[in-house]
Amino acid sequence: MSAQAKCRLDESTLEIVLDLGKQPLGNGFLTPDDYDREYFYSLKCGFSAASKLFQLVDQPAPEAMFHHDYAFVSGSSQLMQNHFSDFANSIFDKGFCAGSSPFVVEIGSNDGILLRHFAGRNIRHVGIEPSGSVAEMSENRGINVLKEFFSSALAERIVDNYGKADVVMASNVLCHIPDIRDLARGVATLLKADGVLVFEDPYLGDVLRLGSYDQIYDEHVFLFSALSVQRIFESAGMEILDVQWQPTHGGSMRYTLGKKRRLRASSSVEILLLEETAKGLGSIDSFRNFGLRVAESALKLKSKFEEIRNEGGSLAAYGATSKSTTIYNYAGIGPDLVDYVCDNTESKQGKFTPGSHIPIVPEVNFSDQPPDYAFLAAWNHEYEVRNANVPFEQNGGKWISHVPEVRVID
Ligand code: SAH
Ligand code: TMP
Repeated sequence: MSAQAKCRLDESTLEIVLDLGKQPLGNGFLTPDDYDREYFYSLKCGFSAASKLFQLVDQPAPEAMFHHDYAFVSGSSQLMQNHFSDFANSIFDKGFCAGSSPFVVEIGSNDGILLRHFAGRNIRHVGIEPSGSVAEMSENRGINVLKEFFSSALAERIVDNYGKADVVMASNVLCHIPDIRDLARGVATLLKADGVLVFEDPYLGDVLRLGSYDQIYDEHVFLFSALSVQRIFESAGMEILDVQWQPTHGGSMRYTLGKKRRLRASSSVEILLLEETAKGLGSIDSFRNFGLRVAESALKLKSKFEEIRNEGGSLAAYGATSKSTTIYNYAGIGPDLVDYVCDNTESKQGKFTPGSHIPIVPEVNFSDQPPDYAFLAAWNHEYEVRNANVPFEQNGGKWISHVPEVRVID
């Protein structure tokens, strides 16, 4: 890991706008045997007024985050399964796979949540997924996977072995890839002349709007806006053709891109670019204010938790999310305040949260012995989690959220 005060896209100067202190790996769930070896790094964010890219100053090595024990499994949410079924259908409906013998590539295919809809239709496909844990789950579903990190060199090998792609897809992963110039080059190499890149990632506009600073953790080396996406892919001769907001992960943007002057861009692109400029997404001042808001939010959350405990209330959290790693470690929240975190991912159960060391238990512990208050750490899955826990509310249990401000949900 090296100090990075320069923008990863164009080496313009980064202004440091947020310091979230020493942090462990967002998905670094661990057992007490590993406490003395736990890895910490300094989580600082910078913004470049030239490239408009909001990014981490330092990021742990990709191999430290994505490996055979990688804990995040996409299919752990039923609503995300529905989302990716709709995503696949939109690719078919738009005719992106209408040619003869179409070929699609997905970067960061995880457990196969999206590609299974292509494999199921016998469409030629390949997933690129370096984390063995989830890559194997997708192989068991009959999906073709290359267990590697995406790079322009890999793109050339794929073209040699399979030919060029009609569609490259990527969800919640391009924002993980530090060498963004190489990524853009690789996508351009992979695509046919009229091929498209369709990708979605948490949207910077929503992070600023909601104050959802927990979107900032090791894996998210970037938080994109259309302004920055435009600049990234310009360098590889590509342009944005369409943008579509998504409610997933607390507010995401789906971008469709193609090679310059090949396909017609929708008016949604120009509208969003103007809107982002008007809202200050390209201006350093917005990020300076954001830093103050984050500090206040973390302080308020911890005070709320302390108030509950001082009054004799019990408190647990719902969802062992990578996002909440940032909150617990920045705000200084640990097992003295939060009794446990429940989560439906088997590989997380029996472990402890990174840095803060709160025990992780199955969801049944929550329904059997509900706390007085529950922090909605998986706030982006609020609808699904609350629907599955109606008795908790009926029996007087209260949810706490930190977005858009710290509050007990009525
Ligand atoms: N697309 C899924 C998974 C998102 S999590 C979804 O939206 O739910 C990000 C995934 O990308 C992880 O499975 C991780 O192992 C993988 N990944 C991280 N860096 C990558 C890279 N450079 N190339 C390809 N995959 C990568
Ligand atoms: P995410 O916010 O990064 O998608 O992570 C959500 C976490 O919450 C993941 O570990 C799965 C877990 N979860 C549950 O335990 N129960 C649920 O009902 C849902 C939707 C998620």
